[in-house]
Amino acid sequence: MKLFVDTGDIEEVRLAAEWGVIDGVTTNPTLIAKSGKGFKETVLKICELMPGGDISAEVVATDYESMVKEALEIASWHEQIVVKVPLIEPGIRLVKFLSDKGIRTNVTLVFSVSQALLAAKAGATYISNFVGRVDDISDDGMVAVADTVRMVHEYGFESEVLAASIRHPLHVVKAVEAGAHVSTMPFKILQMLFKHPLTDSGLQRFLEDWNKAGLTIG
Ligand code: E4P
Repeated sequence: MKLFVDTGDIEEVRLAAEWGVIDGVTTNPTLIAKSGKGFKETVLKICELMPGGDISAEVVATDYESMVKEALEIASWHEQIVVKVPLIEPGIRLVKFLSDKGIRTNVTLVFSVSQALLAAKAGATYISNFVGRVDDISDDGMVAVADTVRMVHEYGFESEVLAASIRHPLHVVKAVEAGAHVSTMPFKILQMLFKHPLTDSGLQRFLEDWNKAGLTIG
């Protein structure tokens, strides 16, 4: 499974990139607005900090002609950029247009298999299925992820299913069980993936015993 960090914060990208196990970054208009910096400047800095990673940057227009213009501009900034497109009618038309041109896309705000089917048929590189926002309204957001993974395999679509709106480590575990190709999550959730109390106590014990014995490496 690929792991993406969902952020517009350069410092978080820098830290996550150091681990060497993060495959990309997803941004959205809210995250970019929160960063307090310009869109292009932030996205290009992220590309620099995560060489080879897939960096999603979202269009904000909602009419087809303007969406095309924005998408082509965003895609021209850097080869690592994946154009993020909301699942609306002109958005699906845009994804088909971009796929035909070989420009990679991430279809966002996907909540159902019927929406995911349209994204897959349009040739989306990634289908971002939101989990947490569905859980927030007392439903099980992971069901659509699992069903979409099944659909993609069943019909041989090339799209990768991206579990988005991840709120805690259990979502990541469930996304693995569902067979999602990617999970994107805030930096603090990625940090939580490292944590286990037995790791902390086990390491403390190893180091105490080593130091008590006065051992050295060489
Ligand atoms: C995905 O690409 C979105 O940016 C993100 O996962 C949304 O998460 P949220 O529901 O926590 O805002």
